[in-house]
Amino acid sequence: MLGKAQSLPADQIFCDLEDSVAPGAKESARDNVVAVLNEGDWAGKTRVVRVNDLTTKWTYRDVITVVEGAGANLDCVMLPKVQTAAQVQWLDLLLTQIEEVMGFEVGRIGIEAQIENALGLSNVKEIAFASPRIETIIFGPADFMASMNMPSLIVGALNPDYPGDPFHYVLFKILEAARARGVQAIDGPYLQIRDVDGYRTVARKAAALGYDGKWVLHPGQIEAANEVFAPRQEDYDHAELILDAYAWHTSDEGGLRGAVMLGEEMIDEASRKMAEVIAGKGRAAGMERTAKFDPAAG
Ligand code: GLV
Ligand code: MG
Repeated sequence: MLGKAQSLPADQIFCDLEDSVAPGAKESARDNVVAVLNEGDWAGKTRVVRVNDLTTKWTYRDVITVVEGAGANLDCVMLPKVQTAAQVQWLDLLLTQIEEVMGFEVGRIGIEAQIENALGLSNVKEIAFASPRIETIIFGPADFMASMNMPSLIVGALNPDYPGDPFHYVLFKILEAARARGVQAIDGPYLQIRDVDGYRTVARKAAALGYDGKWVLHPGQIEAANEVFAPRQEDYDHAELILDAYAWHTSDEGGLRGAVMLGEEMIDEASRKMAEVIAGKGRAAGMERTAKFDPAAG
């Protein structure tokens, strides 16, 4: 099981101590998580543990047991149902103390904040700026729907009774806070794990807004996630072409021109920035370009 997880083409793994663990198993789960992090080879993957939220009695021992036991093999702690910046600051201070006591590099372990209720969403910008450890803001749609009294059991799905996308505001607001702070925005789970088309539909909405990724709950969702969050080949090629063309035209050799035609479109510095985004996603996904820029062709 562990070996399989380590070889899956996912960018991150997270071990859960929160909602997928029954209350009676919370304490023993901590040691299991420590063992999982310390075993085998997680190379190339961001290693994260989700602790229990701060309205429970479990959070502090979750953090202490996991970070003392496996801090050297842990990249981030995920704090669910974050409601205020003060909760992030609490985690930051606790991590600092543990790092000092254990002799770990202070500040290396990051924080992923999950936004899952109305108060968290109201405070998302302060949460994003609460600590230099914040690396990611995550939308938790299932808890969020419950918190808002949304009358549906399919996370992220449209509701025919609402003339719009009920999730647009929350997705956008989280993305805005994440981008203002310069960190990643990640969409949460899709629970119908056998409905891969349903997963794709919901994932595409987040990808279209600019999200960096989406959780998978099952290996069967990984391919769809990687496909949806990578650019299409033609868009990747086009982005690389814009970058090459812009670099050439703005050079001495190209005539120091800042606004030029590339085929039927005008490109300038803003086009370069947009192209950087698409090219960056394509390169991160390991894509290869299939077209080259030819200065003679324009
Ligand atoms: C994830 O934790 C969610 O509540 O959607
Ligand atoms: Mg949740």
